[in-house]
Amino acid sequence: MTMAPAHRVLLLVNGPNLNRLGQRDPNVYGSTNLETIEATVRTTVSAAGGTLKSFQSNHEGALIDFLQTEGPASTGIIINPGAFGHYSYALRDCLADLGKPCVEVHISNVHQREAFRHQLVLSPVVTGQVVGLGADGYEVAAQWFANRFMREDAGQ
Ligand code: DQA
Repeated sequence: MTMAPAHRVLLLVNGPNLNRLGQRDPNVYGSTNLETIEATVRTTVSAAGGTLKSFQSNHEGALIDFLQTEGPASTGIIINPGAFGHYSYALRDCLADLGKPCVEVHISNVHQREAFRHQLVLSPVVTGQVVGLGADGYEVAAQWFANRFMREDAGQ
């Protein structure tokens, strides 16, 4: 008897100023807006049999509230914490508490930029990071989850 594949819910979380993608500093962040990124990721997640819940906020507490509410029942998280990635120990504690597979995305290569962007405080609590691949980084993260789902369903 074959088991039905598990239903997965992925969270796509974007932090401050990422609502401005497409308009904000296109030389650094490209011309793709957040709506398009969400639609692309949703397509990949749906094709892998999952559901995407997307959330953007400019407020640290709102991001944490969302993660605390939706995180426990989720399968995993794709997060671009924006500048919070450089200093939010609160977000780090929240992700550590959830203990879910998590991919941190940064559109720009933060290591080539100002020194304050070189520190990524979520590093020890995320599964992996995609940095500097532009908006495609979100798709890379989504594909990683899709591959993982496929292997799990194949019992590998
Ligand atoms: C960013 C990099 C951060 O340093 C910056 O504060 C952002 C966007 C990125 O996606 O490249 O808001 O997270």
